[in-house]
Amino acid sequence: MTQLDANVLGNVHGGEIMREVDTAAGTAAARHAGRVCVTASIDELSFLEPVHVGDLLIVQAAVNDVGRTSLEVGVKVEAERWDGGNRRHTTTAYLVMVCLDEHGRPAPVRPLEVTTEQQRRRQQGARIRRQMRKERIERLGSYQPEPGTPDPGDGSGTGSAGVE
Ligand SMILES: CC(C)(COP(=O)(O)OP(=O)(O)OC[C@H]1O[C@@H](n2cnc3c(N)ncnc32)[C@H](O)[C@@H]1OP(=O)(O)O)[C@@H](O)C(=O)NCCC(=O)NCCS
Repeated sequence: MTQLDANVLGNVHGGEIMREVDTAAGTAAARHAGRVCVTASIDELSFLEPVHVGDLLIVQAAVNDVGRTSLEVGVKVEAERWDGGNRRHTTTAYLVMVCLDEHGRPAPVRPLEVTTEQQRRRQQGARIRRQMRKERIERLGSYQPEPGTPDPGDGSGTGSAGVE
């Protein structure tokens, strides 16, 4: 990570780390599916510790579970000073990726083989998050959130922004 990636505090901007997370998740999903996968949502993204300019990032991604056409990918980001030193776990994220066919429509994904205890634990976590997504949609409505932009027609420039 270089100075170009830094925020005003001199730490690496969260958006730069999100890009790495998204790329790793897309790669893991595509390798499992054998097709292009797009990001449908980020279920959780936690910045546990800052990343500093000069740190090397180690980004690991694994498919935790698959649905019919979607995959949940867990991503772990660690940072290490460029000249060595302790490796710190800085970021954890869970993303839902959707596999697409050649027409850009959701396509079925092959099942996930789960053989180790760690894989079983990750799959369980993914299923809980999927259930929580379903419950959230039932309580709040569909995947489409209310637009967060001001209504251009009201002239005030404020709008409700979908937030109470
Ligand atoms: C993601 C996308 C393909 C889903 O299309 P869709 O017509 O809503 O698809 P479906 O309703 O058939 O759902 C397909 C799967 O995606 C899941 N899904 C769709 N939208 C989702 C969301 N916002 N969050 C989590 N999962 C979602 C569904 O649960 C379903 O999973 P399953 O087949 O495993 O049960 C579509 O919304 C899209 O193209 N979004 C833009 C993606 C993009 O540009 N990403 C950024 C760049 S990679």
